[in-house]
Amino acid sequence: MPRVPVFGAEQVVAAVAPAAAVEAVRDAFVRHARGEWTMPSKVYLDAPPDGDFRAMPAAGGGYAVLKWVTSFPRNPARALPTVSGVVLLSDAETGELRALLDAGAITALRTGAAAVLAAETLARPTLAPAAIIGCGVNGRAVAATFLARGREVLLWDARPNQAQLVAGELGEGTEVAADLADALASDVVVTVTPGREVLFHDGALHAGQHVSLMGADGPGKAEIAVEELGRAHVVCDEWEQASHNGDIARAVESGALTREGVAELGRILLGDEPGRSDEHEITVFDSTGLAVQDLGVALAVYQRFVDDESALPGVAEVELG
Ligand SMILES: NC(=O)c1ccc[n+]([C@@H]2O[C@H](COP(=O)([O-])OP(=O)(O)OC[C@H]3O[C@@H](n4cnc5c(N)ncnc54)[C@H](O)[C@@H]3O)[C@@H](O)[C@H]2O)c1
Repeated sequence: MPRVPVFGAEQVVAAVAPAAAVEAVRDAFVRHARGEWTMPSKVYLDAPPDGDFRAMPAAGGGYAVLKWVTSFPRNPARALPTVSGVVLLSDAETGELRALLDAGAITALRTGAAAVLAAETLARPTLAPAAIIGCGVNGRAVAATFLARGREVLLWDARPNQAQLVAGELGEGTEVAADLADALASDVVVTVTPGREVLFHDGALHAGQHVSLMGADGPGKAEIAVEELGRAHVVCDEWEQASHNGDIARAVESGALTREGVAELGRILLGDEPGRSDEHEITVFDSTGLAVQDLGVALAVYQRFVDDESALPGVAEVELG
């Protein structure tokens, strides 16, 4: 029986550093925009009232991936992660399973990478600190990725002491915001909250600002008011998915935003669509999280293992037919 390596969170983190994840995710966005990597929209399976499951397949680079992952936003109160599950990586020529990977760790790496990639692509070309609102597992990953790319971070979380805790863990280059208004006023902002409350109300965005909206990645969630989207150059990760399940879904439903009014990050990276037009423009990135991002990072982890098994101690193996 074939033996399949199992990469726990520790091995995923050891295999791919945040800065390398940005490059893997950039490559994934570009290959998807070129049509080389393919991906149907993710399938949501509701589990009311606590959360939902998602099935996220993608194919490319000779492999196929399926991520089975959750979003259970009340879990931290039960000392459990909001996002958890497994990524299956298979050979696209023979169908053989090649690896099992911890979905929480893959998700954090690729979510941090996408938020930072969008900011680096769309924000004004300065190294102004980035404010991160919502410093749970994925907000922390965004902060770690900005730091790895040489940008300082300002942290804010609704939970008392959570921002301080993350600042203490990440160390130099981190600061805790005085309050929410202070964080929202930064030139570069990333939101990674459960999306139950709107953070950017009517008139909140300022000229030249960039915001990466990462938290509202499913039906009924929002981190920005529909009116604010009308003031910005709106960029999504992928139209089909984001127009149904992202921050832009309500604006699309009401007719305030149309397909022509929304760019895709991969097409901007390819040079097929314009990014920021000038220093006064407001740019907003709406992320719902793409399976091709997971494929890019899962491949990077697996490749590291194939190149040098000894670099990743602790990888278990299971026999699966
Ligand atoms: N776009 C993507 O690719 C992507 C990827 C992963 C997770 N997500 C989504 O991001 C969200 C966060 O995921 P997570 O795994 O980091 O969850 P988490 O529970 O670990 O962290 C969420 C944090 O947000 C804080 N928070 C809640 N409401 C807030 C508010 N109004 N202002 C400031 N902070 C607030 C909480 O205290 C908590 O620390 C979820 O909705 C999840 O579905 C999106």
